[in-house]
This record gives sequence, C-alpha cells and structure tokens, in this order.
Amino acid sequence: MIRNALASTLRAAAPHTTLRAGSASFSALPRSVAASFASQRAFHVWQHKDNTVKHVPAEALPTGQYNPGIAPPVETLGVDAVLSGNLSSAKSPTPAIFTEFSLAGKTAVITGGNGGLGLEIALGYVEAGATVYALDIHDEPSAEFKAVARHCRDLLGQELHYISMDVTNQEDTWKTMEYISKESGRLDVLVAGAGVLQTHDALEYPKEEWDKLFAVNSTGVFLSAQGAAREMIKSPHIKGSIILIASMSGSVVNHSHRWAAYNSSKSAVLQMARNLAAEWGELGIRVNSLSPGHIRTKMTAKYLDANPELLNKWSNSNPLGRIGRSAEIRGVSIWLASQASSFCTGSDIIVSGGHQIW
Ligand SMILES: NC(=O)c1ccc[n+]([C@@H]2O[C@H](COP(=O)([O-])OP(=O)(O)OC[C@H]3O[C@@H](n4cnc5c(N)ncnc54)[C@H](O)[C@@H]3O)[C@@H](O)[C@H]2O)c1
Repeated sequence: MIRNALASTLRAAAPHTTLRAGSASFSALPRSVAASFASQRAFHVWQHKDNTVKHVPAEALPTGQYNPGIAPPVETLGVDAVLSGNLSSAKSPTPAIFTEFSLAGKTAVITGGNGGLGLEIALGYVEAGATVYALDIHDEPSAEFKAVARHCRDLLGQELHYISMDVTNQEDTWKTMEYISKESGRLDVLVAGAGVLQTHDALEYPKEEWDKLFAVNSTGVFLSAQGAAREMIKSPHIKGSIILIASMSGSVVNHSHRWAAYNSSKSAVLQMARNLAAEWGELGIRVNSLSPGHIRTKMTAKYLDANPELLNKWSNSNPLGRIGRSAEIRGVSIWLASQASSFCTGSDIIVSGGHQIW
C-alpha cells in the first residue's frame, strides 16, 4: 500500500530526520537512508503529537514491570552456572530466571498491533524492555493504541511505534521490515498477528472472500515472516524468534460456526511454522506458532454481541468455564520471544483454557 505521508514527513525533515516528534531515544537516520525510504513510500509512520517524554529510571518502575539487562549466555544459567562456580546470578538482586525472560536490547515487530491480542503483546514486550513496532492496516492508530503508547512513553519511558502497512503486499512488507531494522539497528522478534475472520456456508463460499481471507491470514503471515527473517540474517549475532499467531481453530473445528476458510488458513499457519523452523533453524532463527482459544477482541466481539448465547457456549467448551482475556497471551508471547524458550522451535503452543481436550 502506498502511503504518501511518509514521503512528505521525510521531505519536511531536517538533514538528519527523526521521523517522529519527540522520539528522543532513537538515533536519527542519515538523510540518504531516509530519502531512499521516502522514494519507496511503502508505508506510513505514525507520529506522536505530544512531545513531552518523561524518562523514568528503571528502579522507579513498579516491581515486575522491568527485566533489566541483555539475556545472559547459557553458561551463566542454571545448574551449569552453579557447578562452574559462577554464582553471580544467585547473588544478583534480579533472579537469573527473570533475566532469561528479558527483552531488553531487542527490537520486536508485531503485525496486527493496533488492538486486540497484538496490542496486548506490544505492551507486554515494552514492559519486558523491547523496542516495539506495531504494524497494522489502519492509517491512524486506534484510541486504545494511542492511550497505550502514551502510557509507555509517560510511565515506562519508552516509545511504542506505529506503522501503517498491509501485510498482503510483499514489497511493502519487506520494505517496512528493512526500515525498522535500519532505524533501530536490529530486528530480533516478529509476531505475525494480523488476521481477519468471516463467516460463509461452505457450499456458497465466494472465492473472492476466501482469497481475501487467505491473503491476510496465511500469505500475509508468510510475507511478514519472510521480511523479518531477511533482516534477522543480516546480523549473524542475532538469534531471531518468529511467532506466528495461528489459532486452536487450526487444529479443531469450532462447533456450529461456518468458518471453513478461517480454520483452513490457520491450519496453513501451523504447517508454515514447522516448515520455516526447519529451513531457518540453521540460520539461528526459531519459528513457533501460538494458538489462542476464544478471547474477546474486536474480531470476536461482533459474534459475541450479535449472539448473546455464544458467551455461555464458548465458556462451557473448556474446563476453565470461561473465555480468555487478551492479557493472558502476554506471558507465553514473552517466553517465546525471549531466551527462556531458546530450545523451542517448530512447536505450536495452544493457549485455549483446554478447549481442544474435549
Ligand atoms: N480473539 C480470538 O479469540 C482469537 C483466537 C485465536 C486466534 N486469534 C488470532 O489472533 C490474531 C489477532 O486477532 P484479534 O483477536 O486480536 O483480532 P483484531 O481484529 O483485534 O486484530 C487483528 C488485527 O489485524 C489487522 N489487520 C487485518 N488485515 C491486515 C492487513 N492486511 N495488514 C495489516 N494488518 C491487518 C486488523 O486491523 C486488526 O488490528 C489474529 O490472527 C486472529 O486470527 C484470535
């Protein structure tokens, strides 16, 4: 998707453009790099209007919201560290187990980051110390995104970036990933979360609708992973982690819903994660899928609100007797992005309240 605003932003910028008002924490791009992105005009970088950035020292943050430090090398962890006499982690004020989950120093990209699960993951990653870029189709971020970005800036002292782009366009997706990697100096983590849901009887399913859904849910996920991996391999020291958001619906069929295309597109994502894990493992990139169960977001709210009986039905479809909350995806997303999951690749992690066991 062509976005003219980036070009005009860049043209208006000073010799070393900042691209973003008030983004004091980021190094500026040289004019030549910025100009080359401007001429490509593949995406649009949203800018904060509010320039007041309050930098809060890490020690002033509420406990549990900040995992300081780059993740330590494996030799300094666990039993090996104890046996080799390296007890510094045990004496450290931050227990080593939490530093393993730290995303400090890493750059993460989240597609579909304007709301729902993507925005939840984005906030979790900022809290874990990452530089985070949320990508979404909308030109302007949602009110909830803006509120969360303001929170990140004012309370956590970190920017939550927003870039408008379309994951179905290969060229734009590659350019966006390249831009992020150049601007932040690295790209460590991708969460491919952009997705759409529609309902049609299989006997009548219009081909255009089927194609549209697959373009986002399957092809778009692949293009995002491809674009991110192409940047990750430019820095051999980076051990990239790619998380493809699938669904429990890739493995089970939702009773009495006409979701043939959606469920098939999510099955494709499960197999895609295994294939990419196989191809990219030797490049140091891990690829896993994450399969949520029923969670109320904009995507599911339209079904829940139109059919009041659905809430009970979905809730009673799992042993916990309720649907999930977006925030319940944070922990597993941080684990998959961090060194704490360093031996996990090609796996599907199901977070569904146990829906699929019945
Ligand atoms: N909510 C659930 O119950 C649930 C369950 C299982 C899986 N999922 C999956 O989780 C992911 C996030 O969904 P959600 O529930 O947060 O819904 P959501 O609608 O809030 O988020 C999806 C986001 O993707 C964006 N998007 C759509 N097309 C795009 C495109 N072409 N380019 C860029 N962005 C695009 C949308 O604008 C939206 O912000 C989806 O892949 C969804 O299939 C959701």
